[in-house]
Amino acid sequence: MHGPVPAPQELLKIAVEVARAAATTAARMRAEGVSPVATKSTVTDVVTAADRAVEQQVVADLRRRRPGDAVLGEEYGEDGAAGGGVRWIIDPIDGTVNYLYGIPCYAVSLAAEVDGVVVAGVVRNAATGDEWTAVRGGGAYRDGRRLSGSTETELAQSLVATGFGYAPARRQHQAAVLARLIPHVRDIRRFGAASIDLCRAAEGQVDAYYEKGLAAWDLAAGGLVATEAGLRVDGLTGRPAGPDLVIAAPPALFGPLHDRLADLDASGGP
Ligand code: IPD
Repeated sequence: MHGPVPAPQELLKIAVEVARAAATTAARMRAEGVSPVATKSTVTDVVTAADRAVEQQVVADLRRRRPGDAVLGEEYGEDGAAGGGVRWIIDPIDGTVNYLYGIPCYAVSLAAEVDGVVVAGVVRNAATGDEWTAVRGGGAYRDGRRLSGSTETELAQSLVATGFGYAPARRQHQAAVLARLIPHVRDIRRFGAASIDLCRAAEGQVDAYYEKGLAAWDLAAGGLVATEAGLRVDGLTGRPAGPDLVIAAPPALFGPLHDRLADLDASGGP
């Protein structure tokens, strides 16, 4: 059983406190040295002890503060049923490969969903302390500054971030799409953490972002930050953003990028 659902701002306050503590743990464990402890979908899809420890810490912290809520985490999956209550969506370390190599671009991503709708989210880069937040209908912020995305209107002038999955066959298709997109944009960036890509798009550090294969924990918090910054976050041909494809772009760029990606069958392949 769960009690009344708190307002989104209250859920965000909890998310920020929990994510900050989790990011501190991730950074400490990184300083102590990191190595993969297992692989997941493929040999390149690694999990570190920190991925597991940070998720366990986040879940325990949430359980203490909100005992009746459901959780969905990247490493341990689903626990509890939201049934009209709150479900927390956790990526303990998004950008695990960056974490492994010490590239300072990896984040704790934590979102609160109510009735299947993400209403609050925080993405905190554990290496730098950069923090992006949003509540549904309340705007997106980085360190107190409201975000509004890029004002670029030409796809040809756009810097576009993307990413790749871990399965070789999927990557091959993603690379083929990219090879045919890159002549039509300013350039491409591959930072290695989808949640941070979405926040960079929200901030206008890149003009747009797209990727096939994102899981709920990659998308939930960063997707809300991008939406609340005024970006359109959707999939192809009227479908919502999801595993098939996520496109996050300011309204003027969304159409041209969408159409190009549709022509290139960006949601196709394995
Ligand atoms: C991955 C990163 C990467 C993206 C992959 C994700 P992980 O998440 O966000 O940038 O391209 O699709 O799986 O494995 O580092 O949590």
